[in-house]
Amino acid sequence: MERMSKVSMHQQNSPHTSTVSPQARAAIKFQQPLCIWLTGLSGAGKSTLANALEVRLHEQGLHTCLLDGDNLRRGLCSDLGMTPEARNENIRRIAEVARLMVDAGLIVIVAAISPFRSDREAARKLFPEGRFLEVYVSTSFEVCAQRDPKGLYREARAGRLKNFTGLDSPYEAPLAPEGNIDTGELALSEACERLWALVQRFP
Ligand code: ADX
Repeated sequence: MERMSKVSMHQQNSPHTSTVSPQARAAIKFQQPLCIWLTGLSGAGKSTLANALEVRLHEQGLHTCLLDGDNLRRGLCSDLGMTPEARNENIRRIAEVARLMVDAGLIVIVAAISPFRSDREAARKLFPEGRFLEVYVSTSFEVCAQRDPKGLYREARAGRLKNFTGLDSPYEAPLAPEGNIDTGELALSEACERLWALVQRFP
């Protein structure tokens, strides 16, 4: 009996193929699924850019979803902290959700610090070739710390917040991102235009 249940468990674990393919799901939406992944320091402008991009895509009648690290940490990832291991798991979950949504035919925008190169590379591997755009929001540490919209840089510098990205936790900049946007150098409207122009290159 023990043996039998192990066998059936194994069978349950083998993947099922859906009759409706990702391409078929996308076709009825008249859009090409895509994952646009924004990475950068806290306060770099990822969420603002992601939101502006989603508005623009939505205005075009495209079906989108925005996965924002800050928001996901209130639900799906509320059990995770900020250690390197917890961030690995956070990014793994976000990437898996983004993949499911791309398979469902959506244009997915991710905004998460995602500080580790290996985690972002693992995320990229989940998507078809050319359907994962890594966008480095390269706003400098100094500019982010100056903005400090949530007061976190102040807390971290005072030693009250540990594992803070850019201080006592590393940020590994992308080596070959599809796009690069520094919101310290560009006006918000220019930064949004640059992101929009980039996305247009992947219809
Ligand atoms: S990630 O590193 O795992 O990708 P994520 O994007 O989900 O991070 O969440 C980052 C947000 O958590 C920041 O925008 C900030 O508001 C908040 N935060 C809280 N603690 C930290 C910390 N130690 N380092 C960076 N961000 C932090």
